[in-house]
Amino acid sequence: MCGIVGYIGKKDTSKILLDGLKDLEYRGYDSAGIAILQNSKFDIFKAVGKIANLEEKINLQYCLPCSTKETISLGIGHTRWATHGKPTELNAHPHLGEYSYVVHNGIIENYKELKEELTFAGHKFVSQTDTEVIVHLFEYYNNKLNDPKASFAKTVERLEGAYSILLITKSEPETIYFMKHGSPLIVAKGKEEGEVLFASSDSPLIGLSDAVVYLEDGVMGIASTTAITFNQEVSWGTLPSSKQFAQKDGFRFFMEKEIYEQSDVVTDAMLGRLKDNGIDFDEIDPSIIDGINEIKICACGTSYHAGLTSSYLFERLAKVRTSVEIASEFRYKEPLLTPDTLFIVISQSGETADTLEALKMAKAAGLKSIAICNVDNSSMTRVADATILTRAGIEKGVASTKAFSTQTVVLWMLGLYFAKVRGVMESDKLASELLALRETPKALKVFDHIHEKTKRLSKRYLHGHGFFFIGRDVFFPLALEGALKLKEISYLHAEGYPAGEMKHGPIALADPELFTIALMPQNLLYDKIKSNVEELSARDSTICAISPLAFDLADDFIKTNSADHYMLEFFEMLVAIQLLSMEISVRLGNDVDMPRNLAKSVTVE
Ligand code: F6R
Repeated sequence: MCGIVGYIGKKDTSKILLDGLKDLEYRGYDSAGIAILQNSKFDIFKAVGKIANLEEKINLQYCLPCSTKETISLGIGHTRWATHGKPTELNAHPHLGEYSYVVHNGIIENYKELKEELTFAGHKFVSQTDTEVIVHLFEYYNNKLNDPKASFAKTVERLEGAYSILLITKSEPETIYFMKHGSPLIVAKGKEEGEVLFASSDSPLIGLSDAVVYLEDGVMGIASTTAITFNQEVSWGTLPSSKQFAQKDGFRFFMEKEIYEQSDVVTDAMLGRLKDNGIDFDEIDPSIIDGINEIKICACGTSYHAGLTSSYLFERLAKVRTSVEIASEFRYKEPLLTPDTLFIVISQSGETADTLEALKMAKAAGLKSIAICNVDNSSMTRVADATILTRAGIEKGVASTKAFSTQTVVLWMLGLYFAKVRGVMESDKLASELLALRETPKALKVFDHIHEKTKRLSKRYLHGHGFFFIGRDVFFPLALEGALKLKEISYLHAEGYPAGEMKHGPIALADPELFTIALMPQNLLYDKIKSNVEELSARDSTICAISPLAFDLADDFIKTNSADHYMLEFFEMLVAIQLLSMEISVRLGNDVDMPRNLAKSVTVE
């Protein structure tokens, strides 16, 4: 995540940058900063936390010489969602070299190698960020070539990962260098002659520009008051008219936007961690698993479902006994905790009271701990021995979607990491798991025909006396997640159940008014789940099968793609059940993003 803005022109640069950052605050608010260049002098402001803190600082310290100016000034700004380095002022963007400043959204995967190389060449680093290497690399080349344009091109050639970048140098008071690769960036012509603007999404530009380019990956260029040049052909377009619409990127709800974002954010979650020959987590020391005989996972709600999914993966892949606990139950059951247990908490917010207290209990009992969190510097990250960030970006919809997919991908990677450290996985098997992981972003793409199908099904799946989501193995926690999504936004009763368990009681409910959503993967226990669904069909339950394989007895069918790994089927089905729940909620006229009685962060017991 993170948001970046840029401006060249005669207006009040600090105001334009601040207003733009406020529109981008949904992309992160760990820290913010701006750099303004005017009369060959840089003015820099940085603050930890929300944009309001930065604004206060600027209002206190900056007597803006340019508020009535006729001269050109330029500036770049950034609002941060921390990935490398804590949310401190030192780690806040813009980052300075000797004479240039950079803002960056994305992750530079090879920053460690570059940092080593540049440190050896005499460059001094002050932050823990990956971003700082960009500005030093630029200056390294520019000191040799004395050609900023060629140096910028050489710099981006060396960067691996995802990035959009704005870079300014003291010697060019009317120029911004830009590059987009993987993370979004828009360049816009302002309404006044010579004015140029940049932003990570279109809302900051609305009202200020009528001509924009939504940059494609690989596009770089130079903007100044006289021209904007690109390294390839681009097409100019217009902006949407409403900011609300722009913040949701044209989607009806944040939940919808977040479902569609999953493919991109899991890519971020894997960046720098998924390597050619294995998994690497900079954040944890391999010795964390030394002497560990058991893993205990603790979480609430959707995060609990990600934990339950991973318990199958940890046992299957890493061969470690794994148990999963609902945090509010765990706290009061007087659990037996031994130091040979690794304690893992999972939380989007990092603030959920029950999970946090469970973590404190485990720590007090001397257990080693890892927090899998989306929010850096949240309470859990400060208590746990190590933290792995899920990098989902801000999740605004109360019903969790992309938090779950990123948690599950991170946990899957962690299972493979432990398998390697413990030496329990053949290299062929590891290679095939890594191959599947690489396909995850594709599996999470939203296909039009699936979305359309869920819209159509939502007409029928409204009335009745309840829903059963059923699945086996990891598709059982997925069934739980499907039922939770439906309950929280549609207010219809739904249960997730292990398919094989239905005959031990719940099948008594079966009749045409009972809707069964059957998760039927091709690659895992297909025949078993098929028999379970047949049993329900024989009792007249209405069946919606989600599967790549057509099933004669199903009343309705959502056809997923054939994939050759069950976890890829898992992610495809996840998207289908998220969309189905959302479309049912829309059909019922409910508030999709803010369902009744719920809150995004549950900081009470
Ligand atoms: C469901 C949902 C909740 C959260 C739960 C835990 O869509 O969002 O069930 O998963 O409140 O929250 P975190 O993950 O922040 O600990």
